[in-house]
Amino acid sequence: MLQDTLQRGQQLTDSALDRLLPSETQRPASIHKAMRHSVFAGGKRLRPILCIESGRLIAGSVPVGIENLCAALEMLHTYSLIHDDLPALDNDDLRRGRPTSHKVFGEAIAILAGDALQTQAYEVLAGLQCSAEARVRMIEEIARRTGTVDGMIGGQVVDLEAEHTRPDLSTLEYIHRSKTAALITASVVSGGLFAGADEPAVTKLRSFGEAIGLAFQIVDDILDVTQSSAQLGKTAGKDSAAEKATYPALFGIEKSRQKAGELFKIASESLQLFGPRADTLKQLASFLVDRKH
Ligand code: IPE
Ligand code: IPE
Ligand code: MG
Ligand code: MG
Ligand code: MG
Repeated sequence: MLQDTLQRGQQLTDSALDRLLPSETQRPASIHKAMRHSVFAGGKRLRPILCIESGRLIAGSVPVGIENLCAALEMLHTYSLIHDDLPALDNDDLRRGRPTSHKVFGEAIAILAGDALQTQAYEVLAGLQCSAEARVRMIEEIARRTGTVDGMIGGQVVDLEAEHTRPDLSTLEYIHRSKTAALITASVVSGGLFAGADEPAVTKLRSFGEAIGLAFQIVDDILDVTQSSAQLGKTAGKDSAAEKATYPALFGIEKSRQKAGELFKIASESLQLFGPRADTLKQLASFLVDRKH
């Protein structure tokens, strides 16, 4: 059942991405190869899947055309990964089981491939098949949540500035909420908006996204300590090597797991209003917390 949800979401997203991204032979071929190298490297597509299930919760079935929104979210996420791996940021060689973009294409093309995925995402968002009002709200939500004020870029900045320090809980939470939970929240909220959610529903979806998004990054930090690079498809043990501000570093593994469990509960409770219609989103939330890679 959950397996079907994951598989359907991945397929919908992957075929939209393949349709929307320029082909590898399109001039200039080098950047289009680089964009596709990172996008089609086996990401879990969790943000698109959350978006679809949020839309399905509101509309009762998968809304027609939501796959383009999913593709845009995945382009933005992949851009953030390409830049996160650059030598100037986390300096990683392995991503999604493949050599990172800058390793294969050089730093200049990797930077530009990230930029290009970002601009491509907004072109796709501008063409979404829904009301103009919903489209503008989604674009605003996604732009803000990937920006500098409590958004993805802001989180990445503080993540870097907190290296080699022992941050307090509020700084740690700021980093995790901004660099990761913000885009996850935008994915859930935009799925709801695409399906025509009203304000009370958007508020509930937002609370769900914020809680599960924070849990997601706590689990990412735990997996960095407990899993192998082969299992993760990215270099394990990087956080302690770089003295990153993480939950396990500050609280240890057990307490971090407990915290992720508490956030899962908060996330589930946020969806009470929707009754059994929210079961799939809750199952997904549980999967995100229990995942092994
Ligand atoms: C990794 O995200 C980066 C974080 C924000 C923690 P995912 O674990 O969703 O990575 P992919 O998309 O499956 O590669
Ligand atoms: C990633 O955080 C956050 C973003 C890419 C915005 P991490 O640096 O922990 O992600 P991984 O572990 O490299 O995937
Ligand atoms: Mg990072
Ligand atoms: Mg990283
Ligand atoms: Mg990590």
